[in-house]
Amino acid sequence: MTQEAYKARYDAYVALTEQRLKTLCDEYLPVAARISQAARYSLLGGGKRVRAVLVLAACELSGGNVDAAADYAAALEMLHCYSLIHDDMPCMDNDDMRRGRPSCHKQYDEATALLAADALVTAAFEAVANAPLSASSRVRTAAMLAKAAGARGMLYGQELDKRFETELASEEQLLELHRHKTGALILAAVQMGCAAADAPDALQLPLEQYAREIGLVFQIVDDVLDVTSSTETLGKPVGSDSENGKTTFVTLYGLDGAKSLARQHNDAALKALLPLGEKAEFLRQLAASLLVRNK
Ligand code: IPE
Ligand code: IPE
Ligand code: MG
Ligand code: MG
Ligand code: MG
Repeated sequence: MTQEAYKARYDAYVALTEQRLKTLCDEYLPVAARISQAARYSLLGGGKRVRAVLVLAACELSGGNVDAAADYAAALEMLHCYSLIHDDMPCMDNDDMRRGRPSCHKQYDEATALLAADALVTAAFEAVANAPLSASSRVRTAAMLAKAAGARGMLYGQELDKRFETELASEEQLLELHRHKTGALILAAVQMGCAAADAPDALQLPLEQYAREIGLVFQIVDDVLDVTSSTETLGKPVGSDSENGKTTFVTLYGLDGAKSLARQHNDAALKALLPLGEKAEFLRQLAASLLVRNK
């Protein structure tokens, strides 16, 4: 697959997701409510949409209907966006900028941001419940999304992230943190794509292993960019991690060590895709792009 073909496919997945997000917002987040306005401000204001792309790519690879899976992709982006709104609040990372604009609590106020994020969670599950897919796919998806997002998944990662602002994390603890904080939703992305396509284990298991590895790559690179990038490029404040005294891949291994660890996990992600042959080419290029991303 050429770089142009890869980019065209990525952009097409994003366009489909944006379209579904707008429609779902009109249904579930009516503009009359201020919390809906705040939710829409954060949700429709950019983002790479990596998780949505993973849902759709996993679905297409498994022979499923990508248009129908777009509701799952949109639901996951709603869930992810809620996590970002809360992540930026003063009691969490206290960051004033997100996606190149004031964070939700800066543009509105803390109470509105808190509730807007909550509204995105419920809207995400409503989108899954009403997706044009089989009842069994929707039930499985709701259960796996709840598990990935909740106290056994992303939220537990956020708890550990806060804890290791004041305690030093070991290597094992940092990996545990990131497997939950960032890895859980990235794993959920391929699982939701597989659920949309009723994919057999022979496809789902390699895709899950790939997702675990790129989930780590994603957060290692996020930690590196917090040190090496600029606020302008990143669209969020650089230096946030050190300001909050966080243990990150960079504080544990240094910049070169963190980058080399990211390459190792990228290699492992590619290895996981071997059984899938040619049809995993898009996912190979996606992994490569996550390794060298600058925002
Ligand atoms: C940021 O996620 C939070 C992390 C889990 C590192 P993204 O880098 O995917 O943010 P957007 O959605 O593109 O803004
Ligand atoms: C946040 O991780 C992950 C979430 C669950 C939201 P970070 O705190 O590193 O994300 P950024 O750097 O603010 O995007
Ligand atoms: Mg954080
Ligand atoms: Mg943060
Ligand atoms: Mg970060």
